[in-house]
Amino acid sequence: MSLIKVHDKYFKPYLSEIMIIEKIKELAAKLNHDYAGKNPLFIAVLNGSFMFASDLFKHLSVDAEICFIKLASYKGTKSTGHIITAIGLDTDINGRDVIIVEDIIDTGKTINQFLPQLNNQQPSSLKIAALLHKPEATVYPLKIDYCCFSIPNKFVVGYGLDYDGLGRNLPELYQVI
Ligand code: IMP
Ligand code: MG
Repeated sequence: MSLIKVHDKYFKPYLSEIMIIEKIKELAAKLNHDYAGKNPLFIAVLNGSFMFASDLFKHLSVDAEICFIKLASYKGTKSTGHIITAIGLDTDINGRDVIIVEDIIDTGKTINQFLPQLNNQQPSSLKIAALLHKPEATVYPLKIDYCCFSIPNKFVVGYGLDYDGLGRNLPELYQVI
């Protein structure tokens, strides 16, 4: 088992690239079934979801579209969770079947604050797909419709997720020790 160091912290291998891709293929199959005959619009939340969104999208066979938004949260020492939209939505979602694509649902704050903006535009359906979910950390009520892995409340890096900017390039997931 090879540990890695990112900034000041050590991480151990957690979910392999093979395990991640297998789960993503299963999720894609579910989505292909649920959205058969439809034209869903995937909204991927940058930065963290870029790898997940890319691999998921490759395995979709429905007529899917994708666009990107960038949400950033001002995180002070107490994580006040004030979410700003750094790159907004440029696509009309009125009457569309929308699926939000997130890397990880932690407290749930980011997505919870963003949902009303989307609901205001009256999509015909609005679902959430997340690679990871930390149920113990989620304090904002949220229905996660599609989730690849439920994980314990420990910090992870890799596969698009960062620790202070680094670690996104790792093709697998590592957990802090
Ligand atoms: P939430 O608003 O608390 O649900 O946090 C969502 C965002 O925090 C995620 O989209 C990630 O960018 C970041 N985040 C939460 N947990 C982790 C983690 O374990 N590793 C890396 N980023 C994380
Ligand atoms: Mg994110």
